[in-house]
Amino acid sequence: MAHNILIIGGDGDLALRKLYPALFALEVAGHLQAVSSITGLSRTSGDREALFAKMLPGLSVLDGFCDEVWDRFRERIDVLRGDANDPATLGHYKTSLGDSCANLIVYLAVPPKVFGGACKALKEAGLSVPSTRLVVEKPLGSDLESFRSVNAQMRDSFSESQIYRIDHYLGKESVQNLLALRFANVMFEAIWGASYIDHVQITVAERVGVEGRKEFYEEIGALRDMVQNHLLQVVCLLAMEPPANRDPFMIRAEKLKVLKSLKPITDDTVKHCTVRGQYTEGSMGGKVVPGYSDEVFGEGEPDKKSNIETYVAIRAEIDNWRWAGVPFYLRTGKRMHTRASEILVQFKPPRHVIFGKGRAMSPNQLRIQLQPKEGITLHFLRKQPGLEELTLEEVELNLTVPESSQKNSYDAYARLMLEVISGDQTLFVSAEEVEASWCWIDQIIEQWQQYGIKAKPYAAGSQGPVDAAVMMAQDEREWSDLQP
Ligand code: BG6
Repeated sequence: MAHNILIIGGDGDLALRKLYPALFALEVAGHLQAVSSITGLSRTSGDREALFAKMLPGLSVLDGFCDEVWDRFRERIDVLRGDANDPATLGHYKTSLGDSCANLIVYLAVPPKVFGGACKALKEAGLSVPSTRLVVEKPLGSDLESFRSVNAQMRDSFSESQIYRIDHYLGKESVQNLLALRFANVMFEAIWGASYIDHVQITVAERVGVEGRKEFYEEIGALRDMVQNHLLQVVCLLAMEPPANRDPFMIRAEKLKVLKSLKPITDDTVKHCTVRGQYTEGSMGGKVVPGYSDEVFGEGEPDKKSNIETYVAIRAEIDNWRWAGVPFYLRTGKRMHTRASEILVQFKPPRHVIFGKGRAMSPNQLRIQLQPKEGITLHFLRKQPGLEELTLEEVELNLTVPESSQKNSYDAYARLMLEVISGDQTLFVSAEEVEASWCWIDQIIEQWQQYGIKAKPYAAGSQGPVDAAVMMAQDEREWSDLQP
């Protein structure tokens, strides 16, 4: 039976930048037959043509845009003017749907402070029936307590199985590929753990600054904005045990075990296992870029300095049988020298060296590039061809999907919308996962506060604060060079 989608915040930034383009991409690919209407609820405008004018610039640049698909897509679009907290507005919507209100998908594309009121109004309007799916995304709180509060407000009207919590990193092709790589190939499973892996690095480096979100960012910082969700989800997929099957609950249960096994950062470890950084003025692409504090406080309060981190590096450990003693180094930062997200799995050197005695051998590496390019490479050593004395050389085994196929890959939101429509929660985060992530993050923030840990400066366009390199050097390791 066909679904109806209600986007609350229907002409807001998230809807215009991500949701309509994702749904349009599904239209192009012929995946929207199961959707009969998409309604944008907005407080300010009930004008369909005005909404089309706002969404068109974002859609017309997409692959496959043509008049025919656009006409088909706009036929599905409707607008509703009103307040998301008002049961009467939602009641009118329900009446307009008639019998088909049984298959409703509600996307709360509004700030979390609106979630509670909107969920209550949906319930009062009779729209929170068991088949309704509720889609929400971060920020889901700014600590454990605030998450529990916003979650409780949603749970007053919807059950856990109705709530789809988006972490858009789980919609990325390359992140999903981690599951295939690990659980469809026997060779990785045999060596996946402390016996053969020396350490893991997960990096999300961005060139952008905080863009238009100064107030939000000043409250949140990089640890809460990126590590609590995206980086920890990647850790889960890398470190989880093989689930018994592909049932979403099985996969989420295994991810939860990883989060619960994260070793707490304590007063003993906070100083050498975490680094906070904040970008200062620097040069990017030949242009001078202002520092974070100047951007946020600007000319109005030139003497004010922020201590929020725009960069964070953490030496994490997973205290379980498979991973005990293997550091997972996480780093993410804004205004870095390049945009690159990647995972590096560094294997141990062979136990017994018979080649090149006295010389350092480069151990095997598995490098997974998540963005902007996707790629998987395995680094091996082999004999240099020829009659000369046996010498080793490094070679790369490239497992990357050819670019011609990558062109057809979907944006993360398109994938996630498709999963909501088909009712599969595998790529969505459970409340227990969010709670476990906040528990780990909250105690880092507590330690930062207790010890007055300062954000160390790094120039915009650089590789981050020197202290992050020092953190690696303590362990006699180095960060990998990022491949843009
Ligand atoms: C968002 C963060 O969740 O992810 C942003 O709030 C960040 O600060 C963005 O820029 C990064 O996403 P992506 O897909 O560009 O890596």
